[in-house]
Amino acid sequence: MDKQAQDAFDRANVDRITGHRRMRRHRKADWSRRLVRENRLTVDDLIWPIFLVDGTDTSEPVDAMPGVFRLTVDRAAEEARRAANLGIPLIATFPNIAMERRDETGSHILDPDNLVNRATRAIKEAVPEIGVMTDVALDPFTTHGHDGILRDGIIVNDETVAQAAEAAVNQADAGADIIAPSEMMDGRVGAIREALDAAGHQDVAIMAYTTKFASAYYGPYREAIGTGGLLKGDKKSYYVDPANGEECLREAELDVQEGADSLMVKPGLPYLDICWRLKQEFGLPVFAYQVSGEYAMMKAAGANGWIDEEKVMLESLLSFKRAGCDGILTYFAPRVAELLAKGV
Ligand code: PBG
Repeated sequence: MDKQAQDAFDRANVDRITGHRRMRRHRKADWSRRLVRENRLTVDDLIWPIFLVDGTDTSEPVDAMPGVFRLTVDRAAEEARRAANLGIPLIATFPNIAMERRDETGSHILDPDNLVNRATRAIKEAVPEIGVMTDVALDPFTTHGHDGILRDGIIVNDETVAQAAEAAVNQADAGADIIAPSEMMDGRVGAIREALDAAGHQDVAIMAYTTKFASAYYGPYREAIGTGGLLKGDKKSYYVDPANGEECLREAELDVQEGADSLMVKPGLPYLDICWRLKQEFGLPVFAYQVSGEYAMMKAAGANGWIDEEKVMLESLLSFKRAGCDGILTYFAPRVAELLAKGV
């Protein structure tokens, strides 16, 4: 071969080799798929949100969330035991407060013996090794279902923040390990951090609901905590507009400056881009909340035989890991933990 022919031959050869990368080689067998798998869902990724209700020895089903119950405090402690045995690291509690205890300002959130605080004490006493996270939003405690104090048609920011900070100290006194401010008021993370520190709760962490969207996916949750028919108007004046991504970075920056220990994105699947952006930008632990509407959709389609519920559930949770999340709040937590324990 002359020089020219040799060069042409070499070029073609290189093209042939590099042009024939075969992505399927690693996909061909279970052993090689496992070998190159980038993300894994484990029980350590699961945070279990549970609903609470007054009474004893009762679990009330939530209609729009098949398999989910409102638990009395004694039952919550039993379920916490089950969760800890499964290896679930953290439980988050949400109360269905008796109507007669709700008012315009949500003042019952300040009662050290309210349902949330009683549940925390019972769980920590029965199962000291599980983490307990409590929410400081007012919506379960108000007659109007808003997360803040309502005056003349406006959710007043600073007054709500002051009350949230006081409530957070009560919750920490009751034994909460993580406080999760979910009312999206400005300045809440800093105020809660200061109040916790002043009360000697330096070790209590804050998981900021950093980007809580004004979403339509919360419907079943509102049935669960009994605010469904109550809400006047919407929450657009304090939750993030689903159209916005850049704004989430600014919101997160404030939460980080104010002392948030971890950041949460809520809802989950429609907002995977936000999970990724927050993780890349801040490097703090990032959690996604797979909310009630996401759960209900999967349950409904599964019950109809339209999707394989178990597979979709696992795929949805794995997607959060790929999107950079350190963990997921999910109503599926105990079921997933059981499956993972079986090696699924
Ligand atoms: C409000 C709150 C909401 C959820 C938890 N806390 C949303 C709302 O009612 O506006 C939703 C959780 C879910 O849908 O699973 N502080």
